[in-house]
Amino acid sequence: MSRLQDKIAFITGAASGIGLACARRFAAEGATVCGYDINKPDPADWQAVTDAAPLSMFSTMDVTNEDEVQACAAGALAAHGRVDILVNSAGVAGLGAAGELDTAEFQRVLDINLKGSFLTSKHLVNQMVENGGGAIINLASIYGLMGGDGQLPYCVSKGGVLQLTRSLCADYGPANVRANALCPGLIETPLTDIVKSIEPVHERFVGWHIQGRPGKPEEVAAAALFLASDEASFINGQSLAVDGGLTAARRLLDPA
Ligand code: NAI
Repeated sequence: MSRLQDKIAFITGAASGIGLACARRFAAEGATVCGYDINKPDPADWQAVTDAAPLSMFSTMDVTNEDEVQACAAGALAAHGRVDILVNSAGVAGLGAAGELDTAEFQRVLDINLKGSFLTSKHLVNQMVENGGGAIINLASIYGLMGGDGQLPYCVSKGGVLQLTRSLCADYGPANVRANALCPGLIETPLTDIVKSIEPVHERFVGWHIQGRPGKPEEVAAAALFLASDEASFINGQSLAVDGGLTAARRLLDPA
């Protein structure tokens, strides 16, 4: 059964990784996908989206630029009449500790990871209310749930994404808008290629996952699909860790 039949999904970060996996899975489940990213997707990657859902489209958009976000939101609404699902997956890594961090870099990471999700929500939530509801899925991180060394701007931005999610729930839950966040662990995407190249950091990070392996973007997309679907109709303001058990438990007797 198609779980998103006739839904319209607005997905940022759709050219790569988790956003692309969401675009492909949502289209396969019957949604028309409006995908946005500052970079264009590989045409071969995007083909699966349009094959499954021919009315789907892709456009470049910088999530930090309010004029662009507003124009893209208006364009999606003009083309399809409504947007039922918003997935905020555009994001970047953000490294550094407070004492050595360039302030402009701190601001850049917050602008993309946090302000970007605010802007798309701002320009799409009112029409969700007018159309009887909607689902917003924000990509936070395990580093929104806990701190991490050497990545202050990333942790701060993802903590903010969790509070953005809860505030959207508080303000628009009464109008049947559901806002939830996903908190992935280490997922194999271009974003985390750099981690792979640094041993023993990569091995240590993988070892934190109780399941002993990194996740795949498709595993995060499956969780996003659930939260976007009517099966999650009474789930609102929550964060769901998709992390192979990383934030749930530590192994003591036989550590990985
Ligand atoms: P990715 O690098 O594969 O995809 C992120 C996409 O965001 C890229 O296509 C990039 O072009 C786009 N983007 C960057 N700046 C943008 C801007 N200003 N405007 C529009 N698009 C922009 O990364 P991945 O792994 O798919 O990450 C997706 C989301 O999931 C991010 O928010 C990330 O922080 C989050 N996440 C990823 C984890 C991982 O291990 N890969 C773990 C936890 C969270």
